[in-house]
Amino acid sequence: QQPLRVAVLGCGVVGTEVVTLITDQAADLAMRVGRPLELVGVAVRRLNKSRPGIDEGLLTDDADSLVRRDDVDVVVELIGGIEPARSLIITAMEHGASVVTANKALLAEDGTTLYEAAEKAGVDLYFEAAVAGAIPIVRPLRESLVGDEITSVMGIVNGTTNYILDKMDTEGSGFDETLEEAQELGYAEADPTADIEGFDAAAKAAILSSLAFHSRVSSADVYREGITEVTAGDIASAQEMGCVVKLLAICALTEPNGQGERAVSVRVHPAMIPRDHPLATVRGPYNAVFTESRSAGRLMFTGPGAGGAPTASAVLGDLVTVCRNRLRGAAGPGESSYAQRKISPIGEVITRY
Ligand code: HSE
Repeated sequence: QQPLRVAVLGCGVVGTEVVTLITDQAADLAMRVGRPLELVGVAVRRLNKSRPGIDEGLLTDDADSLVRRDDVDVVVELIGGIEPARSLIITAMEHGASVVTANKALLAEDGTTLYEAAEKAGVDLYFEAAVAGAIPIVRPLRESLVGDEITSVMGIVNGTTNYILDKMDTEGSGFDETLEEAQELGYAEADPTADIEGFDAAAKAAILSSLAFHSRVSSADVYREGITEVTAGDIASAQEMGCVVKLLAICALTEPNGQGERAVSVRVHPAMIPRDHPLATVRGPYNAVFTESRSAGRLMFTGPGAGGAPTASAVLGDLVTVCRNRLRGAAGPGESSYAQRKISPIGEVITRY
């Protein structure tokens, strides 16, 4: 049987885990897909870095040649950032490959370009790992709940900041030492500013609200405050009031002028929440996402939101699904039909939780 050929771009914390799992679980993955997978290359920035456990023969610093191969079935993009990731993804699709990506920054800034390229090429674009690590939330919004009217999505979607705020709350730890721990544990972004200033959470909020409300929401539409201004005094005050401080992403379908026209409001900021609220119990690098929809009511999705192995679980789930789709000659969900909804002015607070 001809194997399905897979190329991986990027070999950081998540990439290493993904490559290891594809190799170690080859027999099991072949059984789940119905065809063996063949890893044809792993693109890295620096070839001379030591990468224990990764077959050196697979490594290349020429990502461009890898995505131009016409015999590659799936490209897994784990480089992150806008460029060269966007160009590589588009080139891969033009050469007939389906794409699995964890790139929240790119999806939030220019998801439309990726969707259009996938549509044009008739290939899949899957990105479960882009939001909340291992937690299945993209597929529930994109597929399971697509028949329902979602009215709000609220959650803790950044593991690094939740880890820091949790340690400050429970152990009275300082901000800097806790951030270093989060970096060592592989939760933080390459540049942790993205975590602590709320950019990472804002990108995820843009992706979630685009899917939930069938709108085009980009990072720039999201009101954003990070946690760098949160002091030990703030945490102590919250404790006195029976509350805990969390960085929340709040995405809501609103009716700003009360005349039936719907708009989308998306914001990320630290918030005090009562200790008996389910979100208050989300500890360490865990994430949680609540959805409210007309028919399903309230749903909560929670679990490990950051780290190599949990994020790799979401990537591998997409990889298996995309491979199965290819074998059937059918693509999965494409871009839903988008409503031209207004985005509420930045900073407008519609609902207070
Ligand atoms: N840096 C991110 C976090 C990783 O801390 O949640 C997962 O996207």
